[in-house]
Amino acid sequence: VSAAPVVVTHSLGRYPVHIASGLLDRLGELLEEHLPRRRLALVTDGNVAPLIAGWTGSAEPAWGARLVVPPGEGSKTREQWSRLSDALLEARFGRDSGIVAVGGGMVGDLAGFVAATYLRGVPFVQVPTTLLAMVDASVGGKTGVDTPHGKNLIGAFHPPAAVLADPRTLLTLPDRELRTGLAEAVKHGLIADAAYFGWIEAEADRILRREPAALERLVRRSVEIKAAVVGADEREAGLRATLNAGHTVAHALEHATGYGLAHGEAVSIGLVAEARLAERLGLAPAGLADRVAALLARLDLPVTAPAGLGPARLLGAMRQDKKNRAEAIRFALPAGLGSMHPGDGWTVPVPEPLIAEVLAG
Ligand SMILES: NC(=O)c1ccc[n+]([C@@H]2O[C@H](COP(=O)([O-])OP(=O)(O)OC[C@H]3O[C@@H](n4cnc5c(N)ncnc54)[C@H](O)[C@@H]3O)[C@@H](O)[C@H]2O)c1
Ligand SMILES: [Zn+2]
Repeated sequence: VSAAPVVVTHSLGRYPVHIASGLLDRLGELLEEHLPRRRLALVTDGNVAPLIAGWTGSAEPAWGARLVVPPGEGSKTREQWSRLSDALLEARFGRDSGIVAVGGGMVGDLAGFVAATYLRGVPFVQVPTTLLAMVDASVGGKTGVDTPHGKNLIGAFHPPAAVLADPRTLLTLPDRELRTGLAEAVKHGLIADAAYFGWIEAEADRILRREPAALERLVRRSVEIKAAVVGADEREAGLRATLNAGHTVAHALEHATGYGLAHGEAVSIGLVAEARLAERLGLAPAGLADRVAALLARLDLPVTAPAGLGPARLLGAMRQDKKNRAEAIRFALPAGLGSMHPGDGWTVPVPEPLIAEVLAG
């Protein structure tokens, strides 16, 4: 591996995130390093499975089991968790097992939860193959599955032994999936690093053309930023709330559209709306929201709520997120490009009439 890995620290220890184009040429060797002498089970989805051999060439290890789930969020369930766990039991995987998740955030969360619970926990390595999984889902140690009551409601904290991110895998990613990850990268610049934000502005063309060097640099800086935040507060008591920038509005949009918007699209609209709130509250300088909107639009992301989604519906969805009806709706708000307002626990209460006004545009 050419460049040094980014190290993520957590309550139980630390793990490296290796980021390099062509990294998977050495997959077998890297797995032997991070899961030494373990019997390996591959977990992937039906879209990614046929791509793996092209990324690894002759470096694909001999899997003790090759477990493939149907692609899509619909597979992040307890049913798939039990199917995978049973397959491992039937194949007599023991405490010397190692699980290797190759795919997007869905596969990482599901396979990580299998690893967290199999024989009370076996180590796993994450090989993220979407931009979102590289810059977001593979950093922080959260694993889990969805339920009919909501997403990610059953899960465990089970950090991987290592993450192996090869930006070359992003060449086959559908455009919409690339943009989903870019929204989170813009968020990282907004919350923590004005120079990174400016670099994304300057290099937007190269990023959209998926030039390997540009993608590698993007993934590396985003992972560094998320790792620094979760390392400082990995059980999200405080600082981790800053990663929710844009997400209060985004979650409301996702609920109100029945998940008709991709997560990154909702985050994009949310980042702009919440930057406007910060401006209106006098917490951020004028012009911030316009600059954020210009970059997101340049990256082909939506920056205003879909027509027909009135502020009343979005406010209703935001109120549902709260534990107590009387509580004010709280936001993680920017103080400027690259810094967040400390507020109270890094969030600020916002009066509902102002939220309605900003959402109305
Ligand atoms: N654990 C965390 O901290 C965390 C953080 C953010 C998101 N998540 C979770 O991540 C999931 C979303 O992740 P995602 O956007 O990667 O979704 P995903 O895993 O469903 O992948 C999106 C699509 O891309 C396909 N795909 C994956 N890699 C590909 C490649 N290289 N080429 C072509 N197609 C490819 C997949 O088959 C799928 O159809 C959600 O379940 C979300 O809850 C978790
Ligand atoms: Zn997000």
